[in-house]
Amino acid sequence: MPARTAHDWSPDGPDLVVHAENTEYLPSLPDGSFTMVYVDPPFNTGRKQSRQQTKMVRAQAGDGDRIGFKGASYSTVRGTLSSYDDAFEDYWLFLEPRLREAWRLLAEDGTLYLHLDYREVHYAKVMLDAIFGRECFLNEIIWAYDYGARAKNRWPAKHDNILVYVKDPSRYHYDAAAVDREPYMAPGLVTPEKAALGKLPTDVWWHTIVSPTGKEKTGYPTQKPEGVLRRIVAASSRPGDWVLDFFAGSGTTGAVAAALGRRYVCVDANPEAIDVMRRRLAHAEHRAYGSAGIVAAPTTSERPVSSTLRG
Ligand SMILES: C[S@@+](CC[C@H](N)C(=O)[O-])C[C@H]1O[C@@H](n2cnc3c(N)ncnc32)[C@H](O)[C@@H]1O
Repeated sequence: MPARTAHDWSPDGPDLVVHAENTEYLPSLPDGSFTMVYVDPPFNTGRKQSRQQTKMVRAQAGDGDRIGFKGASYSTVRGTLSSYDDAFEDYWLFLEPRLREAWRLLAEDGTLYLHLDYREVHYAKVMLDAIFGRECFLNEIIWAYDYGARAKNRWPAKHDNILVYVKDPSRYHYDAAAVDREPYMAPGLVTPEKAALGKLPTDVWWHTIVSPTGKEKTGYPTQKPEGVLRRIVAASSRPGDWVLDFFAGSGTTGAVAAALGRRYVCVDANPEAIDVMRRRLAHAEHRAYGSAGIVAAPTTSERPVSSTLRG
């Protein structure tokens, strides 16, 4: 069992950027450490993913190591899929233990945001219903954008899906007042005061992708817009709370968390992501974590961990 990661989890502890395969690192973190977990895993490419042994263990002895499946429907869907779709089964096996860890790491008032696309989201919903319980499903957020070529043989797909689950439906933190408001579509139909205030966002968010020429751009191919993360962090954490992103990429979650006064841990296995975060999140403590434990942050050329997955 890995040792509990030495870290100061008080609001004064340093923010962390960790170069690690997330299945190796996450078990070292204490239960319930995070108020918000956002993850934007690689999408299912349809190819078989080469994966490491994904058995997850808990950080503290005596806690047991499984979160019980809650629904028979989950096993049924899983069994049916695996009988004809190897690529999906492989992706499922990749995602599931990591989402179990997300559940373990969430505080009792915590919230998970899982960012996927239309190809995976329905299966992931069944998986998360099983891991969290159906009653813990809060929302499916549609992030709609308008960019790139348009298919001519079907409705062009121009949205991502973000599933939102809470650890405990009676205790989760959600602050609607902290979220940026949107202009009314027909401001003439509401009072000038209401029009000036704007309206609360719904579960459909129109937001541009990261502009290829804008100052937010880091060059990391799958970078998500800070505006989308800002809403998530603002609504589902308080200043001083810890947030986690273990598919961190360019570190958008960390950048937004820092700007909003939250503490963060950003994990990624790809040395290029770590290089980007080294620049973008320069104030954080940078570590690498491998089977040997915490070691000094390596340079790109050392490549102590590798990801064979598309980021
Ligand atoms: C879609 S990108 C995340 C982009 C990020 N949301 C952003 O705004 O830049 C997915 C990331 O997951 C990382 N990744 C994939 N498999 C991983 C693993 N097993 N452990 C840690 N990171 C992994 C990839 O290197 C990639 O950077």
